[in-house]
This record gives sequence, C-alpha cells and structure tokens, in this order.
Amino acid sequence: MNKIKKENIKHIIGIVSGKGGVGKSYVTGSIAVELAKQGYRVGILDGDVTGPSIPYMFNITSGVYGDEEIIYPATTEKLGIKIISSALLLAHGEDPIMWRGPLIGSLVTQFYTTVNWGELDFLLIDFPPGTSDVVLSAFQTIPVDGIVLVTTPQQMVQQIVKKTYKMGEEMKVKLLGVIENMAYVKLPNSDEKYYLYGQNKLEDLQNTFPINILGSLPFLPQNTKLVDEGKIEVTDTTEFSAIVEKLIKELQNE
Ligand SMILES: Nc1ncnc2c1ncn2[C@@H]1O[C@H](COP(=O)(O)OP(=O)(O)OP(=O)(O)O)[C@@H](O)[C@H]1O
Ligand SMILES: [Mg+2]
Repeated sequence: MNKIKKENIKHIIGIVSGKGGVGKSYVTGSIAVELAKQGYRVGILDGDVTGPSIPYMFNITSGVYGDEEIIYPATTEKLGIKIISSALLLAHGEDPIMWRGPLIGSLVTQFYTTVNWGELDFLLIDFPPGTSDVVLSAFQTIPVDGIVLVTTPQQMVQQIVKKTYKMGEEMKVKLLGVIENMAYVKLPNSDEKYYLYGQNKLEDLQNTFPINILGSLPFLPQNTKLVDEGKIEVTDTTEFSAIVEKLIKELQNE
C-alpha cells in the first residue's frame, strides 16, 4: 500500500505507548498546546477510535462538519488547534463505538485523507495503546515522520522501548524519542520531587540501547484537574518546551 502524502502538512508525529493509561493523550495534548503557543499550526488526529479522549481535554463537543467527501475539523477556542475524533462524529458522546478492527483502522486513515486540515506545521496522532492492527495499518497509509513513545517508570520500560523500536524498524517509521511520564510527583508550591518508582530507569537503558530521551515529566495534580475540566490549553507546559525543542531537532535530523 502506498503512503498518501499531503503537501499541506509539514510533519506528522505519532504518539504511542506500550500500555494504556500512561498519559499518551495528555502528552499529545500538551505537545500540541506547547507547539501552538510557539506559533506553529497544529492539528490532532485522535486515533483512539474506541477510547477517544482528546476532545474532552479541550472541552470540545462539536464543530466538526462536512459530508462523505470532505470533513472539516473542530478548532479549539484559545489556540486554534484543529481536532478530529470519533467522539465528535457521534450524536451522543457517551455512545460506545463497537466496530471491528478493519473498520476502525480505515477510519484513522480516513481522518487523515478526508479531513480538510488546511495548512499545518504539525499533525499529531494519538494512537491507541500497543502495537495493534490500527497502529500498523495507519503506518502503511499515513506518511508519519516518526513516533514518540510514552512510558511510565513502573512499566517494564526496557521491553516496551525495545518492542517499539523494533516495530518502528519493521514499519520503517523512526522512533524519535521516549518521554517518561509521571517520572515523579511534584506538588503545587513545592520544588520537592517524589520519585515513587525509582530513578534513572531510562538512563540505564540508554547505556545499552540507542534511545533518545525527550524528557521526564512530573505528575502534576493541578494539571489532572485542569485537563479533566477540559482546560488543557491553560495548563503550565514548562517541561514541554524542552521536549518540543528536542523533537524539532530530531525531525530536522531526518
Ligand atoms: N503528568 C501528568 N500530570 C498530571 N496528570 C496526568 C499526567 N499524565 C497523565 N495525567 C492524567 O492521567 C489520566 C490518564 O492519562 P491519559 O488519558 O493521557 O492516558 P492514555 O495513555 O492516553 O490512556 P489510554 O490508554 O486510555 O488512552 C488523565 O486523567 C490525564 O489527565
Ligand atoms: Mg488516551
């Protein structure tokens, strides 16, 4: 299958994880916010068709329109980030999507091909966890520049990083780097860092395996609350500016 190139989208980055619940959508949303704050034109394709969460983080419930041939994405209020998600196509947000794999996979591709994204500097794809068919078939059709792996320290980090690296090699998609999420807890008004699962797991791996660490993120309870309220655009993304800088450098190394 040939990849479908779009001239109006400069870079496409996939966000993946070995397991669910590690903060993939949080990281996708936060990278988008940081890029948009820096003046880039950003879109998010919510590739998690059965477990969409991106629109809720941005407090978006509607705004997608179009017909079978062309779809226009919703746009966030503050930063103008364009969003497409299965949650925005349903009449009732709480309706479950109970589709078989091939249909889900083709919807992700359609979100890329059928949606009128306009001019974008970055399209971020929030993939479902793991190396499922949805992820693999998207890599066959969408010209993803590279993937970012999100892990947490309590996972079997070594295996997951190696697995993702190998998947990237097989699919000819570059692993741009790894983000360690919830590496430590930081409470508001305190500089103290609490490492709940031990330190330096990624650094240890880096000594034996060629990985690029994009950053280690704190768990910030105040952000959990804001994101839950649909206010990700006003979260403090300090840590993400260094991550975005490294990511852009890595893309230029292609
Ligand atoms: N660093 C963080 N600080 C504060 N809250 C976080 C952080 N990372 C994730 N969260 C919160 O943890 C919850 C799970 O994160 P998220 O939904 O991004 O995980 P996910 O990997 O996308 O899960 P899924 O596999 O279900 O798609 C969310 O409520 C999110 O806002
Ligand atoms: Mg998610």
